[in-house]
Amino acid sequence: MPPETRLAEDLGIGEMEADAMGIEGRSVICSAPAKVNLNLFVGQPDDSGYHPLDTVFQALSLREYVRAEVRASRGVDRAISVQTLVYRSQPGRSPRLSRAATDEFARMDPQGHLAVRAAEALGARRVLASNQRLVLTVHKTIPVAGGMAGGSADAAATLVAANHLLGLGLSHHDLLVTAAGLGADIPACLTGGNCRGTGRGDQIEPLTPGTEKPGPDSKWWVLVFQKQGLSTPEVFRRLDQMKAGRPDRNTLAGLSTTFRRATGSESPELLASLLSNDLQQAAVELRPELAEIGGALLDLGALGWMISGSGPTVAALASSEHHALQIAESINGAMPLFPGVKDVAVAWGPGQGTKLEGRLPSWVTTAKD
Ligand code: C5P
Repeated sequence: MPPETRLAEDLGIGEMEADAMGIEGRSVICSAPAKVNLNLFVGQPDDSGYHPLDTVFQALSLREYVRAEVRASRGVDRAISVQTLVYRSQPGRSPRLSRAATDEFARMDPQGHLAVRAAEALGARRVLASNQRLVLTVHKTIPVAGGMAGGSADAAATLVAANHLLGLGLSHHDLLVTAAGLGADIPACLTGGNCRGTGRGDQIEPLTPGTEKPGPDSKWWVLVFQKQGLSTPEVFRRLDQMKAGRPDRNTLAGLSTTFRRATGSESPELLASLLSNDLQQAAVELRPELAEIGGALLDLGALGWMISGSGPTVAALASSEHHALQIAESINGAMPLFPGVKDVAVAWGPGQGTKLEGRLPSWVTTAKD
């Protein structure tokens, strides 16, 4: 039995075809946040190859938007389809649709898309009538393979959207269980705010709630996206190679204790001094230019920098929105020195977790090439 079907059965989702008759033509929009890891401690891999983590996620204002809609099927019964529109970030301005990146996405196998896998995991096919299909449209602003949970945000938004659209009635806890079965970062995208992740990063303890709009305690980030992504398993493998033969400094009970008491009102200077990431050295060994970008951000006045998750996005902390925009503008000006850089963005956190939206943001409808 495929794991997705087993998950659906565990959640008690059976054949509910009749219930689906009234939902054709309805749509639901959900958004889910990108994340950075404020700290990330990595232990020795378990038998399955996964590494135990102790990390604090911060949800950012950079978000994916997923629209889920039930339509009459066209040939294939109960199909689940996905279309992804990719937008490029620009500091202080609305994201802009990228035709080239969107076309590239269209060539990917939809069955590998985490949004489709999330809908399958909820048993969406079992709820659709035989003459219906589920159509997912993802508006993507989080970089692919950037260490910021872009795919996980698509899955989290789809879980909440499909639960609502198809009337599945699953609780937040049910969705967290499904999310953890799909990928390590998805529960953090559902939860939002500052939250601690243990286990594979999927056991979540909320610390500080996220806000809808930036406030006095919000932290401002400059994010430097790379043209080429990094593979998460490859970065973990490199870390294992680097640790081989060295005694493990059991870091798993380390700084997260400090963050457990975090109120969100700590100063950006204090937060900058606490940033740490066990995967950073491995990511930098694979991509030495990432350390040069971090150094340049410090030279431009950033309070601190780190690799986001397994990278390769470089995240630098600023003291205010104005400061972040200034740094972003300067690093944009220095682009010729860093040919691997794709885009620079400014975002704040902690933002809210996955949530229903009344409408898509205006830049979706007004997006131009
Ligand atoms: O769970 P997710 O699909 O995000 O993980 C991708 C890969 O990253 C895993 O297959 C594993 O190789 C590595 N990983 C790990 N330990 C974690 C999370 C991810 O080794 N805690």
